Amino acid sequence: MSYPQIGNALVTGNSSGLGLGLTHALMRRGAAVYGLSRSGCPEAIAGDVRVDLAEYDRIAPAIAQLLDGVKHLDLVVLNAGLLGQIQRMPDADIAELRQLMDVNVWANKPILDHLLVQEIEVGQIIGISSGAAVSGNHGWSGYSISKAALNMFMQLYAHEFPGVPVHSLAPGLVDTGMQAFISSEVDVERFPALKRLQEARGTGSMPDSDTAGQRILESLERIRAVPSGRFVDLRDLA
Ligand SMILES: NC(=O)c1ccc[n+]([C@@H]2O[C@H](COP(=O)([O-])OP(=O)(O)OC[C@H]3O[C@@H](n4cnc5c(N)ncnc54)[C@H](OP(=O)(O)O)[C@@H]3O)[C@@H](O)[C@H]2O)c1
Repeated sequence: MSYPQIGNALVTGNSSGLGLGLTHALMRRGAAVYGLSRSGCPEAIAGDVRVDLAEYDRIAPAIAQLLDGVKHLDLVVLNAGLLGQIQRMPDADIAELRQLMDVNVWANKPILDHLLVQEIEVGQIIGISSGAAVSGNHGWSGYSISKAALNMFMQLYAHEFPGVPVHSLAPGLVDTGMQAFISSEVDVERFPALKRLQEARGTGSMPDSDTAGQRILESLERIRAVPSGRFVDLRDLA
């Protein structure tokens, strides 16, 4: 199989989980990776800046520092994300709902704006979304709302990057800290839709993050074939 050449990439949230899996897959292909998270990437990557994406005003200076001198990015993956509590909507605290929107949606704005203002040439942009963006199952709360908003955010930004494929992407289930939380903390008697996730853990339907990152890279061409701005579920790609 032939894959598009990726010389460099920006991956947000690559200190753990899917972002780290993607980073490993990119590094195996010889790509230079620029990353952004609170705790930092455990790998020696081309550039790594620590920033809390909940602190909006710190993001623009952080991305400017990270991409100083970078004129071209083959791939941008807006992956950093927060799950929040699995809960009934009346139990959801508004401060937590706002934080989910801040990290999962608005944090991506200064990042994409920087690419536009600095006229950094970009090959492909992916916002990591979730099946929860459309399923709306009981308990998904602010996570579902933020991922649904992210889908529209990516669709609207697609207009700002003419000629560049821009998509929101549900990666499918990935065995990361998020799923560990769902397995150990969530009461599936109250939120039965999450039982499927708990049962998937440790099976082939929930690959580890390195396998999932590799799958995303292998799917880049098929994602590019989907009209820009659309939401793509990796599980629906042939
Ligand atoms: N796991 C799944 O089954 C699944 C399914 C669908 C979609 N997703 C999506 O995949 C993406 C990655 O999730 P994951 O499962 O890999 O979870 P994870 O292991 O918890 O990783 C989340 C990443 O986001 C970063 N992050 C979170 N809050 C941040 C903040 N305030 N500031 C900066 N960075 C922050 C974390 O870095 P620090 O903690 O170092 O800041 C970490 O690198 C998320 O967008 C998630 O919604 C996951």
